[in-house]
Amino acid sequence: MRRVYMDANATTPLLPEVFEAMRPYWTEHFGNASSIHLDGQQARTALDRARETIAEFFNCHEAEVVFNSGGTEGDNTAIFGLLRPGDHFITTAIEHSAVLQAASRVAQQGVHVTYVAPQPSGLIDPADIQAAILPETRLISVMLANNETGVLQPVEEIGKIAKTCGAFFHIDAVQGAGKVPFDVRRFGCHLASISAHKVHGPKGTGAMFVRRGTPVESLIVGGSHERRQRAGTENVPGIVGLAKAIELAMHSLEDGTIEQVAVLRDRLEAGILAIPGTGLNGMGLPQKMGAPGPAFGTWESTNPVPRVANTTNIYFDQLEGEALVIALDLKGVAVSGGSACHSGATEPSHVLMAMGLDKTRARASLRFSLLKTATQADVDQVLKIVPEAVQHLRALSPVAAGTLG
Ligand SMILES: Cc1ncc(COP(=O)(O)O)c(C=O)c1O
Repeated sequence: MRRVYMDANATTPLLPEVFEAMRPYWTEHFGNASSIHLDGQQARTALDRARETIAEFFNCHEAEVVFNSGGTEGDNTAIFGLLRPGDHFITTAIEHSAVLQAASRVAQQGVHVTYVAPQPSGLIDPADIQAAILPETRLISVMLANNETGVLQPVEEIGKIAKTCGAFFHIDAVQGAGKVPFDVRRFGCHLASISAHKVHGPKGTGAMFVRRGTPVESLIVGGSHERRQRAGTENVPGIVGLAKAIELAMHSLEDGTIEQVAVLRDRLEAGILAIPGTGLNGMGLPQKMGAPGPAFGTWESTNPVPRVANTTNIYFDQLEGEALVIALDLKGVAVSGGSACHSGATEPSHVLMAMGLDKTRARASLRFSLLKTATQADVDQVLKIVPEAVQHLRALSPVAAGTLG
């Protein structure tokens, strides 16, 4: 069976060029970048080159790039590294658990945390961030793009608010990186986190932008790696892979690839929305089960929310999303219900719930996230399989029969 992978926001495969770039650093160029001999120097040179690429991506100085293990570590570092009891921290109710769990831990330690709710569209209103500011606000953390809806947040406006009130600003750019242009100077942030495996790089590798002079404490102590900001022997092959993946992602933003992904996503979305009882999450929809969705055919023009090109999040009334994920998987289509990082959890998506969906509709929602290598054939295959699977499940579903609330 030909499989179609539409779960790019969970992870992406290594591109062949990334694999090839990494290969020598597992084998002949295996040196420790801290060693002074030739083998060490080769590793150090590779790290320096990778740092230049990531600095170009962030639009920052090379000394402001810190390599780490990925998005979770970057998010944790911003929060644990800056906040102390008595501080005030502003974040949003739709952040990834790497932010939300860190926030709940610092809250237990005496940090006052405000969770700003999104609009029903999935967008954070900068005015709500502004309204949450207190004299002791030390850090604001808002994501660039939401992993479940793809909605792009107004980070530039939030950066201006942070500047005015003198707070530090962290952007979780894990899902936006490589999908929209990123510029730490324009966005006015002090910290930003990215992760290689979301952009066709290796898992367990990432980087952080740390603006010069930001007093963020290292989570991991030991050697003097990464200018004492992150101890531990550098993962040279991983870092080389991250840099190659980011270099390719920067090209994709310029060569029309991302626009092509948007065309495919829009076709996919329109095709799925032609199934009765479906609707797009991220438009301020009616909340009651059975309430009419947006007038069909008008969804495009009534959806002004900026989104990344590859993501759509759709509800299927009278269905359990999880059952549909499994049915699609059996037919060779990989998608995700809610956030894949929470797979196994029975709770409905905290993001969709924060946007005001009721539990039933949140549970009935699926995320389709396209790889940048997606093709029209992939979309055609998914558009053939989804309506059949929906029809089949609805015929069997106790939700459809009205036995579930
Ligand atoms: C928005 C966001 N932040 C952080 C992370 C965590 O990144 P990592 O998997 O590199 O730890 C993810 C992963 O899904 C994410 O989507």
